[in-house]
Amino acid sequence: MSEREEIRGYHNVRAAARDYETYSSDLLGDRDVRDYKAIPLEIDPPRHTLFREAVQPIFHSSHLEGKAPQFEALARQLIDDITARGGGDLVPDLGLRYVMGCLSIIYNRPQDLDEWLSWGPDVWTAEAYSKGMSVVESRRAARNRQFGEASLRSGDMLYRYLERVFAEATPAVGADPATTDVWDWIAGIRVNGEAPTREETFGIAMLLLAGGRDTVIKLIVGIAWHLIRVPDDREYLREHPEAYNKAIAELARYLSPIKQMERLSSDPTRRALEQDDPRRYVLINWLSANHDRSIWPDADTIDIHRDRKPHVAFGIGRHSCMGMNITEFEAKAMISALVTQWPGWQLDGEPAIDWEQNGEGPDATIAVESFLSMPIRVVRG
Ligand code: HEM
Repeated sequence: MSEREEIRGYHNVRAAARDYETYSSDLLGDRDVRDYKAIPLEIDPPRHTLFREAVQPIFHSSHLEGKAPQFEALARQLIDDITARGGGDLVPDLGLRYVMGCLSIIYNRPQDLDEWLSWGPDVWTAEAYSKGMSVVESRRAARNRQFGEASLRSGDMLYRYLERVFAEATPAVGADPATTDVWDWIAGIRVNGEAPTREETFGIAMLLLAGGRDTVIKLIVGIAWHLIRVPDDREYLREHPEAYNKAIAELARYLSPIKQMERLSSDPTRRALEQDDPRRYVLINWLSANHDRSIWPDADTIDIHRDRKPHVAFGIGRHSCMGMNITEFEAKAMISALVTQWPGWQLDGEPAIDWEQNGEGPDATIAVESFLSMPIRVVRG
C-alpha cells in the first residue's frame, strides 16, 4: 500500500496541478534508478520557466511538421512488414519500433535506433531487456516501483549512453533543432547565458528519451487495439481525417499513459522527512480525473464521437506535457496509415493486458495498466 497522499477526481486534480506553490515539483523521481533530476519536470518556477523556454524549440510544431511524412512512411513500412509476415506482436513490432523510429527522426540520430530498440519499451529495464527479457517480463519489472522490493530496474544503461553521447557532442549554440543532432543541440543550450551543469544536461536528455517512450507506445498500441476491435470507428476515421485529433484525445483520456505524478507536500514536517519516505509526497492521479464519472458518466468506455472536454492525460499547468505535439503527430500518422489501407488485422487470441483497479468504492475504475503483448494475424476478404 502506498502511504503517499493522493489527489483524485477531475476538479481536485486540475486545481492541485496548477498550484505549484502548495504542490512542488522540486523533487527527485525514480529514486531507485537515478540520482539526477528530470529537467524541467522536477524543478519549480522561476528556474523551471527558464529551462522550459530553453528546451521548447525541439517541441515546436514547425520542427515536427516537416517530419510528419517520414512518420507516416515509417508507419506504413512497419504495418506492411507485419502484414507480409502474416501477423506479429503489436507491442514490440509496431509500438516500440514506431516510437523509437520517430524519435530517431525527430532527434536526428538514425545511428542510435538499433541501440534504443535494444533497450525495450522502458529505459529503466533496458539492461534486463537487452539480455533477453521479453516485453511482458520487462513491463512487469518496470511496474515494480516500490522501494525495498526486488527490482530489475536500473539506470545504468541509460547513464552509460548519456556519458558517451555527451563526451562526443559538439555544442551547437542557437542551432535549428530540426536539422541538428539532438545531443549537440542540448549541449548548446544556454540558460541565462550559461551552459547547464552536466547533471542538468543529463536530466534534460533523460526526459527526452524516457518521457516519449512507454507513454507513446501505450497510446499507439491502444489505437491499433481499438481500430481492430471497432470496424465502424476505423471506417469513420477513414472518411473523416479531421476527426483524428478527437480520437487521439479520447484514447489518451481513456488510457492515461501516465497514471500519476508525484509532488512534494508543502507541509514543513513532511518535507523534512527522508527523501525515500513516501509520506513526503502527494500523488496527483491523472487517471482518476480522466475517469471521473461526474464529467464522463461512461468514462470507462472508449467513444471517439463524444463531445470533447479537456482531459488531463498530458497534465495541466506549468508542467503540462511538452511532448504533446510529438505524440499527436506520431499518433495521427499511425491512424492515417492504418485506416486508409486497412491491413486486415485481427487479434490472434486474447492480448496480454495488465488491468488495474484505480481507486476504491463507487468511484473505482478498471483501467489498462499496460499492454504486454498483442498478437495479431492477417485475415483477408
Ligand atoms: C502519450 C504520451 C504522453 C503522455 C500521456 C505524457 C504525459 C505527461 C504528463 C502527465 C506530464 C506532466 C507531469 C507533471 O505535471 O508532473 C508530462 C510532462 C512532460 N512530458 Fe510528457 N507525455 C507524453 C509524451 C511525451 C513525449 C513524446 C515527450 C518528449 C519526447 C514528453 C516530454 C515531456 C516533458 C519534457 C515534460 C515536462 C514538462 C515540464 O515539466 O514543464 N512527453 N507528460
